[in-house]
Amino acid sequence: MAISAIKGMNDILPGDVETWQFLEQKVREVFGTYGFNEIRTPVAEKTELFCRSIGETTDIVEKEMYTFLDKSEKNSLTLRPEGTAPVMRSFIQNRLHALDPVNKLYYMGPMFRYERPQKGRYRQFHQIGAEVIGVENPMIDAQLLAMLHHYFCEIGIEAVQLQINSLGCPACRPAYRQVLISYLESRLDNLCGDCQRRYQTNPLRVLDCKVSSCKESTTDAPSVLDHLCGECEEHFDAVKRHLCTLDIPFVVNARMVRGLDYYVRTTFELVTDQLGSQNAVAAGGRYDGLVESLDGPALPGIGFAIGVERLVLMKGEAKVPARRPDLFIATMGQEAADKAFVLMSQLQRTGIRAEMDYQGKSLKAQMRRANKLAARYSLVLGEQELQSGEADLKDMDQSTQQKIVLSELVDLMGKLRASA
Ligand code: HAM
Repeated sequence: MAISAIKGMNDILPGDVETWQFLEQKVREVFGTYGFNEIRTPVAEKTELFCRSIGETTDIVEKEMYTFLDKSEKNSLTLRPEGTAPVMRSFIQNRLHALDPVNKLYYMGPMFRYERPQKGRYRQFHQIGAEVIGVENPMIDAQLLAMLHHYFCEIGIEAVQLQINSLGCPACRPAYRQVLISYLESRLDNLCGDCQRRYQTNPLRVLDCKVSSCKESTTDAPSVLDHLCGECEEHFDAVKRHLCTLDIPFVVNARMVRGLDYYVRTTFELVTDQLGSQNAVAAGGRYDGLVESLDGPALPGIGFAIGVERLVLMKGEAKVPARRPDLFIATMGQEAADKAFVLMSQLQRTGIRAEMDYQGKSLKAQMRRANKLAARYSLVLGEQELQSGEADLKDMDQSTQQKIVLSELVDLMGKLRASA
């Protein structure tokens, strides 16, 4: 039996890959404008990195990591389930803070989580992430969200809503946690098994549970926003004010909690109603204590990650330019094919997308292929064209043609493309 791919891990095939390239190209353009530099980290890290940063009691660490011992049987490694912890590890290890007090980094690449695959949820998926390390000022929260908004405008996806919340800080969250635990205790019988188990260790997670009895019995749960300390409240107010100044639309969702433990203060999600239950296209927030907890300097941080597969699923709306050949050279006979082969490679070297037939197909079949590829121009080379040194260049869009001198083809195609 033929070997198939691993469940939840997908091929990205030609036809789809153009969308991916378009999305990646726009990341480079937009994120570059905001002063972000790309960083690339390995796909595997020491397991401890994720346990210490994402949190021992999170779903990711408890049940979703691809963790294995390497051949020495001494080192526990994990395929990265997300990008923030590896970037922080690299930031600390390479002392990037010594080079610049503010670091703006972005990354793109595969992440791995052993989740039940469904539409928009995979075991290998891709994130586009951005992290800013070194700035506590709420202006950066707003600017990061402005960049995310700008990116979505550039790729032509509008059906998303920005939801924001504040999760408080180590000064105010413990008190809120206690209030919430007491509240949940009084409703324990109505909670699902998972929530009954985790309400003490991770009470905020209960607010995010999808089980209807949990949802119903926590509708009037105490709000984190009513329990922020003065500094967190001020910070959150400033984030909202700056978002309004920048005209970035948002709603406050006080029930939003995140599945990773490192968040403090501002958290956010970009949600859509187009993807069923996997409604978060991007998510992130502040992680002010994270770098220090990984034995780095005490620097604040904030970032987000976009789920690329989810963007691609929404691509119905994305503006993806079609990649079509500039010229298809059809040939009759071996001599013409040899000539076309040389011409094609000369054209390609000057950046013109040229194509030809390699299989000795009939002229009719070759023209069918030129049409299928949506070639902008076509040219037929036969004995007569080789002798005269001239050929008819057909404009496939306009259905017009012009006589051209073959030795001038490369120059002419360059000019036609520049004027297109
Ligand atoms: P996250 O919410 O776990 O945050 O993931 C961010 C995004 O990745 C999600 O909103 C979703 O679009 C996508 N995603 C997550 N899991 C899957 C999956 N199994 N299949 C497909 N897409 C998925 C983080 O990972 C944080 N590191 C984000 C961050 C960066 N916070 C601060 N900086």
